Amino acid sequence: MSKEISAVITLFGGSGDLAQRKLYPALFGLYRRGVLKDHFAVIGTARRPWSDEHYRDIVREAVCDDSIEATAQASAFASHFYYQSHDVTDAAHYTTLKELAAQLDEQYAVGGNRLFYMAMAPNFFATIASHLKSEALLTEDGFNRLIIEKPFGHDYASAAALNASITATFDERQIYRIDHYLGKEMAQAILGLRFGNPLLRGVWHKDYIHDIQITLAEAVGVEERAGYYETSGALRDMVQNHVMQLLAYLTMDEPSALTPEAVHEVKARAFDQLHRYTEAEVAANFVRGQYTAATIAGTAIPGYREEDGVAQQSMTETFVAGRILTDAPAFAGVPIFIRTGKRLTRKSTQVTVTFKPQAAGLFGAQPANTLTIYVEPSEGFSLELNGQALGQTNVLEPEELRFRHDPAAAKAAPEAYERLINDALHGDQTNFNHWNELAQTWRYVDVILAAWAKDETMPTYAAGTMGPDAATALLERDGHHWFWQPTRIQMAD
Ligand code: BG6
Repeated sequence: MSKEISAVITLFGGSGDLAQRKLYPALFGLYRRGVLKDHFAVIGTARRPWSDEHYRDIVREAVCDDSIEATAQASAFASHFYYQSHDVTDAAHYTTLKELAAQLDEQYAVGGNRLFYMAMAPNFFATIASHLKSEALLTEDGFNRLIIEKPFGHDYASAAALNASITATFDERQIYRIDHYLGKEMAQAILGLRFGNPLLRGVWHKDYIHDIQITLAEAVGVEERAGYYETSGALRDMVQNHVMQLLAYLTMDEPSALTPEAVHEVKARAFDQLHRYTEAEVAANFVRGQYTAATIAGTAIPGYREEDGVAQQSMTETFVAGRILTDAPAFAGVPIFIRTGKRLTRKSTQVTVTFKPQAAGLFGAQPANTLTIYVEPSEGFSLELNGQALGQTNVLEPEELRFRHDPAAAKAAPEAYERLINDALHGDQTNFNHWNELAQTWRYVDVILAAWAKDETMPTYAAGTMGPDAATALLERDGHHWFWQPTRIQMAD
């Protein structure tokens, strides 16, 4: 982590679930590492009328673990938090906010730096951005940055409209569009693996790669978020953003430097080069599905349509699998299979690159070499190479070279939100979404949405399984198979 930063951080959505689960712990992590120290204040805003004291109690509770050291630090940390009841549509409230920020700026000797964080219902993002401008909340003497949460739009048109409204107040260099997957240790580590190893660099090419598979599996269902999820579905919720970002890291050209400009340039090109399907081609390349009721380990799990807040005839997909192609010269023809869903066998984000096996050689047909990157819950990677089977001359069998970060060390490393807020405080946009990336990924996804809107069928899968049968057929058709096929029995990955 880097040097101490001074800032007044204004959090729109200060009483929300995201703030309590992710943002306060992330800010506390930065406090414990000394990135936030003496010269910072956080203003939490939301509609409900809370006192500063009550707000500090909430913050303390959100960050406390059982250690005595953390408890003492949590109180000192929480003393930097202030609460402002705020109606985002009322211009007068912004004046109050501005005055409070100016007062805290002086009190904590902040020097004019402002970080605005939009962590609330997305329909208010545009209103907040325009009021920040009209009520002149941006300062002249420090940095002004905006962190904005997903969902960034609902389709290309709404994303473009939202972008127009925030760029009326902030320029691109001040906007930090969050995709928390870009803050994950092993998502970032893809770049090091790809570009830091001659062994992999040399074969990261269509001549050697058979397929790439990206799985973002969740064991949980829709939880308390049916209201949001019904309007989203797995394609918007996970594919347009998290899956696409991993895909870009796996297929983009080598950036000329690890700077935001250079990384965004190659990522934007990777998205530009995605092979766009026509609506008619969607059915052959994308599968959706919805989970149905099942009993898992003796517990009855409701189907998606039985969940609270879900329409009985809901056509919202809780699973997506796809066969994505790119026209990038280095990868043309290599299928990139993706899948994500709720209520799958278990939680795991992992990527497997399968290399083309030699059909016949000195040893006859050989098993394929594979590289698997474990993003979570365990963090590490495995390489399968063929070795001689013990005691048998000239007989090969796949052997796994396995690396995992030590779980205790991984837990102590900064979590995704902590890394990303740290980056934003230091003005590093590398791990945030540039507008070009969002524009391209929405355009890609819009075609699939349009095709599905005309399709009245909804394949199903039993909760606890890895999606509908069609998701298996999608690969088998061309002689591919899902590399990861978990059974319901818990197995270490
Ligand atoms: C969010 C989605 O962006 O990512 C959620 O809205 C999903 O539906 C979550 O559960 C998954 O994130 P993670 O970090 O738990 O893999």
